[in-house]
Amino acid sequence: MSHTSAPVPLTSAAGSPLKGTIRVPGDKSISHRSLMFGALAVGRTTVQGLLESEDVLATADAMRAVGAKIEKQDDGSYTVDGIGLGSLLEPEGVIDFGNAGTGVRLTMGIFGSHNIAATFVGDASLSKRPMGRVLDPLREMGTNVIARDGDRLPASIRGAEQALPITYRVPMPSAQVKSAVLLAGLNAPGVTTVIEPIATRDHTEKMLKGFGADISVSLNEAGERVIKLTGQPELKPQNIDVPADPSSAAFPIVAALIVPGSDVTIENVMLNEHRTGIITTLIEMGGDIELLNKRSAGGEEVADIRVKHSKLKGITVPAKRAPSMIDEYPVLAIAAAFAEGDTFMPGLEELRVKESDRLSAVARGLEANGIPCVETEDTLTVTGGASDIGGGTVVTHLDHRIAMSFLILGIAAHKPVTVDDGAVIATSFPTFTSLFEELGAKISANSSEAA
Ligand code: S3P
Repeated sequence: MSHTSAPVPLTSAAGSPLKGTIRVPGDKSISHRSLMFGALAVGRTTVQGLLESEDVLATADAMRAVGAKIEKQDDGSYTVDGIGLGSLLEPEGVIDFGNAGTGVRLTMGIFGSHNIAATFVGDASLSKRPMGRVLDPLREMGTNVIARDGDRLPASIRGAEQALPITYRVPMPSAQVKSAVLLAGLNAPGVTTVIEPIATRDHTEKMLKGFGADISVSLNEAGERVIKLTGQPELKPQNIDVPADPSSAAFPIVAALIVPGSDVTIENVMLNEHRTGIITTLIEMGGDIELLNKRSAGGEEVADIRVKHSKLKGITVPAKRAPSMIDEYPVLAIAAAFAEGDTFMPGLEELRVKESDRLSAVARGLEANGIPCVETEDTLTVTGGASDIGGGTVVTHLDHRIAMSFLILGIAAHKPVTVDDGAVIATSFPTFTSLFEELGAKISANSSEAA
């Protein structure tokens, strides 16, 4: 896994236009949840198109540790033989989530309402990230916690014998926190209520309903989402077809927009309204992006996305759009470097607690490559159109999206760009380099070759 393997510097350089039709891997959020909910159901869930990345495979191991049987079949699909809600076994060893924030936070929710003890560890990035945001509501539900100072990993929990259903107002826009509380609520008798003042991705709600949970979503007078879940249902196994990850698709989309002469189609991309802020934003910037062959698959709208090189202009990205594109700001900053004028991105406070302090990592990476930007506590402004950009080495801080974003910069910049560690890309997008090579991009482990 990336947290133990040696760093692999990668360099990208400008070359030919990007052309072709590709498929990016399955959605990370849905892949994690497919394995988790499959493990909690009674019977066999099948998953087509699972994202086989380090993060998701860590979740598979965590579910195996409590008794689920998860196997890859000859046709590439996965089967999950669930152990059933309330029947989780106590894991024998520590649960190592590597780099995976979603994996560890949602799993803490699941385990936190089962009367088992578990210890969670992660890599240097995950060990810096705040876990109090999920441990606090779990404590209210009766979970005992011992964690490092500031509620960081390693952390051990022992679930309550009988968890208390709670009403919880999510204090920051976080699908992970919302999901952890709902998943703990699955094994609490009675109704768990989560109030979400700012809407975030709704995969947990939609998928739990698909698995047969009694869950409802309504809006209160203040316009906040109110999610009610009745605990202790019997979850029914499902057949899941995971659509392509819009957060991974964002990389070829931006690359095609900024490399002259490009024309790229990405097939079968999920268009969930809580995930597509980047597409809306890039279209507002003048991007030639067509959504073709729109259809519905497994409860989500999907489309093929055709993108051509475009003349972009800087815009202000509304702060309220941030939750629907929270993972896409690093690559948006790269698009902004090629736009005319300033792109102003407010409402970015959550970027400080991602796999790295992404706001700072992006700003330092832009500066290292001669791109003017201004970083404040929760905003970023990027000035596009600078001449002679590139030529820098970017520190990735074990952050896959920083590594991928700056490799995209390199394939459109005047001079090659090096990232200090490309191994971290395996966290979410293991086929990144090969797919970009298929499109005609130059990415190399040897800087002199790419240059
Ligand atoms: C995710 C939620 C988001 C996102 C992460 C995946 C999820 O995190 O950044 O990549 O699957 O629920 P937050 O909930 O912390 O914003």
